[in-house]
Amino acid sequence: TVLVVDFGAQYAQLIARRVRECHVFSEIVPSTMPAAEMLARKPKAIILSGGPASVYAEDAPVVPDGLFDLGVPTFGICYGHQVMAQALGGTVENSEVAEYGGATVAVTAPGVLFRGMPVHQSVWMSHRDFVSQAPAGFTVTAMTDVTPVAGMEDPERGFYGVQFHPEVLHTEHGLELLRRFLYEGAGCRPNWTMVNIAEESIEAVRTQVGGKRAICGLSGGVDSAVAAALVQRAIGDQLTCVFVDHGLLRKGEAEQVEKDFVAATGVNLHVVDAQERFLAALDGVTDPEEKRKIIGREFIRVFEEAAREIVGEAAAEPVEFLVQGTLYPDVVESGGGTGAANIKSHHNVGGLPDDLQFKLVEPLRTLFKDEVRALGEQLGLPPEIVWRQPFPGPGLGIRIIGAVSKERLDILRDADAIAREELTRAGLDREIWQFPVVLLADVRSVGVQGDGRTYGHPVVLRPVTSEDAMTADWARLPYDVLQKISTRITNEVRDINRVTVDITSKPPGTIEWE
Ligand code: XMP
Repeated sequence: TVLVVDFGAQYAQLIARRVRECHVFSEIVPSTMPAAEMLARKPKAIILSGGPASVYAEDAPVVPDGLFDLGVPTFGICYGHQVMAQALGGTVENSEVAEYGGATVAVTAPGVLFRGMPVHQSVWMSHRDFVSQAPAGFTVTAMTDVTPVAGMEDPERGFYGVQFHPEVLHTEHGLELLRRFLYEGAGCRPNWTMVNIAEESIEAVRTQVGGKRAICGLSGGVDSAVAAALVQRAIGDQLTCVFVDHGLLRKGEAEQVEKDFVAATGVNLHVVDAQERFLAALDGVTDPEEKRKIIGREFIRVFEEAAREIVGEAAAEPVEFLVQGTLYPDVVESGGGTGAANIKSHHNVGGLPDDLQFKLVEPLRTLFKDEVRALGEQLGLPPEIVWRQPFPGPGLGIRIIGAVSKERLDILRDADAIAREELTRAGLDREIWQFPVVLLADVRSVGVQGDGRTYGHPVVLRPVTSEDAMTADWARLPYDVLQKISTRITNEVRDINRVTVDITSKPPGTIEWE
């Protein structure tokens, strides 16, 4: 493993992902972890991330004692570069001039990292402090106009540092530098591949679950689908999946789970048709928060009932495990596996009742979303499942502005299906993060169709691009695609006589309308 020591940068996750792109496993650890604990994880290399603090700030995060004595090759990035310089006897200074954004470094000595590369390279900088003098034993490998030590290394001792951000795509040769450090500087081998990940995870689940039984809630989303497929490979019929059809799904989604997913995995599926129940609970409700609460509450009840049934059926062999599709970012954000992670995992199930005590199986908890998709493909799941857009738990319930009814759901389902179909036909599925279609059910607008006046409803198209849903931009869909969607929706979907496009970024808008 490669440990990415997090100094509070938004970049730590990105660094970890890039390391994995070099086919080397990486984990993020807090900078407060003692060096001995780091060593216990047997790291092949350590990367010190950037961070917002100045090394001179009072509460600046410090390098764990003894980290530079572990004998593990270490690469400092930005703040990590500065703490390395400071700890090993170099000097770090405050500068009047900050260096933010694109810059050009000049390679002053090739060393291990820059060997054979162009002398001038574009890089991404984000700093104010800078290393003015490298520690004894180091060679300065790069500089910029304002940063005398933009790169330094001491290959003998296995220490490397750069002031810029190699993990950011704007840094021209960033990935290559990282690769050099990993392969040449630290002797890592590129063995983190999907085949290995799949095999190792399957083996780990087998060991954890043994001959016991497990259940898994399927949401129709990518994460639970991949988790279930993987556990199914590991323990076969000892797994039962529960799929709650709450009637707020998109067209063909329930069938996709019931047919395609089962066909691809051979999993035991327990489907609960709870459509009536959800419609009844949502009857007349217009407030978004109230909708969410009702849907969440009903979901837990239905899931709990199903779980009890399955547990009951299997009285001879109790169900001990609950499979969850928790991803690595959830684990990191809730404390990097330092105990706090469990709170989040329970939260993910929507708070299962205490009297249903399960041990958790979380086979994806070391993976990023793109890795989960690749793993899904490796496990033979169909692309329609693997490349699905994220879809909110409350489903179409929060894409109908106004009260939810069966009729309105059917209208929205038809419009949404057309939009998705045309997006796929235009080959844009992987560029668009999400494409909600929203029914303004309480708004009516006048139109003319045939020779008559219509008085129908508008729908809003909300295609967005995003990396992680925290921020998003409205997608500039080609006009001809928009036009096709508009024509088809107004022609084919009853009661819709107007199609609009939402051109708000997030912030200030959210992706969903409710
Ligand atoms: P917003 O609308 O807040 O959404 O920009 C960000 C992302 O989260 C999804 N979303 C939800 N997912 N339960 C979920 O599982 C929810 O209640 C929920 N609300 C929003 C949304 O689709 C987008 O991907």
